[in-house]
Amino acid sequence: MDQTKIVKPETLNDLIKTLHKIFESDNINVEEVQSIMEAYDSNPQEWMKFAIFDQYRYTRNLVDDGNGKFNLLILCWGEGHGSSIHDHTDSHCFMKLLQGQLKETLFDWPDRELPGGMVQKSQRILQENQCAYINDSIGLHRVENVSHTECAVSLHLYSPPFQTCQTFDQRTGHHDTVKMTFWSKFGERTPYETTAQENN
Ligand code: SIN
Repeated sequence: MDQTKIVKPETLNDLIKTLHKIFESDNINVEEVQSIMEAYDSNPQEWMKFAIFDQYRYTRNLVDDGNGKFNLLILCWGEGHGSSIHDHTDSHCFMKLLQGQLKETLFDWPDRELPGGMVQKSQRILQENQCAYINDSIGLHRVENVSHTECAVSLHLYSPPFQTCQTFDQRTGHHDTVKMTFWSKFGERTPYETTAQENN
C-alpha cells in the first residue's frame, strides 16, 4: 500500500462518509479500503437498526447505496446459518465482522475439464472488527456462522454493486445464477413480494 495515512472512522457514519470519498475515484486501493473498514470499532448502537434477523437463514440488509458506486450491507447470521459457495460477479467484496465470528472457506473455480468435487483452498475464522477481502481472481467462498449459541453480524461492501451471482454445488461444481435480494433497505423491512431470497 502507498503511505496514505488511514484516518480512523469514529462512527459508522464517519466510515460511510469516508467510503463515499474513496469510491468517487475509479481506482480503488483495496488495502486502503480494508484498513479503513478494519479501523472502525464496531458499535452495535450505530448499526442495530440495520441488523434485522430471520429465523431460517442469513439476511442481507442494505445500509447505503454508495451513490451507485458500491452497496454497503449488514448481513445477519443466526446460529448455524451459512451461504452457498458463490462468486462476486467481477466486483470487490470487503467483509468486516461487527459481532461474533464467521468461518470463511475459499475454493478454486471448478475446472470444466475436470468435473467433480470442488477444491477447498483454505479456511479461516474471522474475528470481530477484522476485514476480509475477496474477488473472482482470488476464488470463490462460503461464509458460515458455525456457532450453535451466538449469532454474527458482518458489514459487506460490494463494488460495483451487483444484482446476480453464481452459486456452486460443492460436490459437482455445477453452478446456478441467482438473484441477490435485500431483507431490508435503510432500516426498513423490504415488502414481502420482493424478498424471496435465493439460496446464495
Ligand atoms: C459475501 O459474499 O460476502 C456474503 C454473501 C452475500 O452477500 O450474500
